[in-house]
Amino acid sequence: MVHRACLNASNPDGVAVLPAPQNLSVQSTNMKHLLMWSPVIVPGEIIYYFVEYQGEYESLYMSHIWIPSSWCSPTECPECDITDDITATVPYKLRVRATLGSQTSAWSTLPHPFNRNSTTLTPPVMEVTKDGFHLVIKLEDLGPQFEFLVAYWRREPGAKEHVQVVRSRGIPVHLETMEPGAAYCVKVRTFVKVIGRHSPSSQAECVKVQGETLPLALALFAFVGFMLILVVVPLSIWKMGQLLRNSCCPVVVLPDTLKITNSPQKLISCRKEEVEACATAVLSSEEPFRAWL
Ligand SMILES: *[C@@H]1O[C@H](CO)[C@@H](O)[C@H](O)[C@H]1NC(C)=O
Ligand SMILES: *[C@@H]1O[C@H](CO)[C@@H](O)[C@H](O)[C@H]1NC(C)=O
Repeated sequence: MVHRACLNASNPDGVAVLPAPQNLSVQSTNMKHLLMWSPVIVPGEIIYYFVEYQGEYESLYMSHIWIPSSWCSPTECPECDITDDITATVPYKLRVRATLGSQTSAWSTLPHPFNRNSTTLTPPVMEVTKDGFHLVIKLEDLGPQFEFLVAYWRREPGAKEHVQVVRSRGIPVHLETMEPGAAYCVKVRTFVKVIGRHSPSSQAECVKVQGETLPLALALFAFVGFMLILVVVPLSIWKMGQLLRNSCCPVVVLPDTLKITNSPQKLISCRKEEVEACATAVLSSEEPFRAWL
């Protein structure tokens, strides 16, 4: 924006003295400030402009010194991005002059000092999307001074509005997990702390999760699962119980010698045998089960 080539209309009569730039104004939107003026025209020549500013600090404590603007000393275009120069919420004086070779014009000063608290705040651009059942919002990046107040609610009578403050920039934000079939609406406004002002709210945008097919499928799944549990589980428990009783727990009367002098080692090996017997029984239980069906 600052150093692009500008096309000047030519003036066939020419001008003898370099006139000062006219019609200075500041256009400020969402804390981006642009000083503009009407171009000075000299046929066949390129005019350069120098912009300077004086904040409250400079005028009160630094004997009214003027500071060259960071991006427009000089510039070819009849406009200057002064965003980086305006660092406090105080009145700033701004002035500009034209130069051509060794000729310079007089300074032209902005009629009223500019205070950034007069910036125009616009409703932010947002994109409301869903990621599965998640309500997600993407917000435009307006710079580090902006906070977003995101209001969202479920679209139904008497729904409660939730507000989330978002400070992260340019990344999608998860707001809520949505219930199938319900619509959710979102609107956003910005807040700029350094000037203590809010933007107007954006238009509400709503999204809906398709909920008709899903509960049906869920119900079907649940029904099938329920039937399976109802039929298969008692059946297998009963079958397994039978097999285990037959193979694992035979009613055996141990000889007295074994009951008294069992070493732990022997006990373990005995149990191991028992367990192995059970495992084999379970594995082979498939075969009688198939026969049973
Ligand atoms: C200043 O602005 C007015 C209206 O916007 C315009 O008529 C006039 O020509 C401008 N002055 C210069 C020097 O361009
Ligand atoms: C900006 O601040 C000045 C004083 O600091 C105040 O007089 C003025 O009303 C403010 N303007 C806005 C739009 O808030």
